[in-house]
Amino acid sequence: MSNQAELYHELLGQTKALIHGESDIIANMANVSALLYERLAQVNWVGFYRVIEDELVLGPFQGKVACIRIPLGKGVCGTSAARGEVQRIENVHQFEGHIACDATTNAELVIPVKVAGKVIAVLDLDSTALARFDKQDEQGILAIVQMFEEQLSA
Ligand code: SME
Repeated sequence: MSNQAELYHELLGQTKALIHGESDIIANMANVSALLYERLAQVNWVGFYRVIEDELVLGPFQGKVACIRIPLGKGVCGTSAARGEVQRIENVHQFEGHIACDATTNAELVIPVKVAGKVIAVLDLDSTALARFDKQDEQGILAIVQMFEEQLSA
């Protein structure tokens, strides 16, 4: 296994241990943000936005203070939530409508969190390093989000 694959394998196990048996979504979002922020290199913001009516509203996160409300369909996070699709952006300055909460952020990975096919939140990871997130990061974080979704539907 590559170092990165090993790291994500370990993070998946730690996520399971953290959220297993806990049904409070805010507590689980808080701990998953803290775990990823602590363990991933070159990441300046990790956190959740919750879908509330037609907006994303800031949830538990680690990093600098951030935009509180994002309309669905706007920015990288709003696009991910509206389409129900992962957004892995190498250079956010080339993404039309990108919302610059922190001007130093250059790359972003956003994964939708779904329950019964409906997007209820997104997990957003930001980096100052261009093209910081590769396919393996996407798969690793996706597996963590899937575990989170299973816990929510349990
Ligand atoms: N840049 C994001 C906004 C959220 S912050 O980066 C924390 C976007 O375009 O959706």
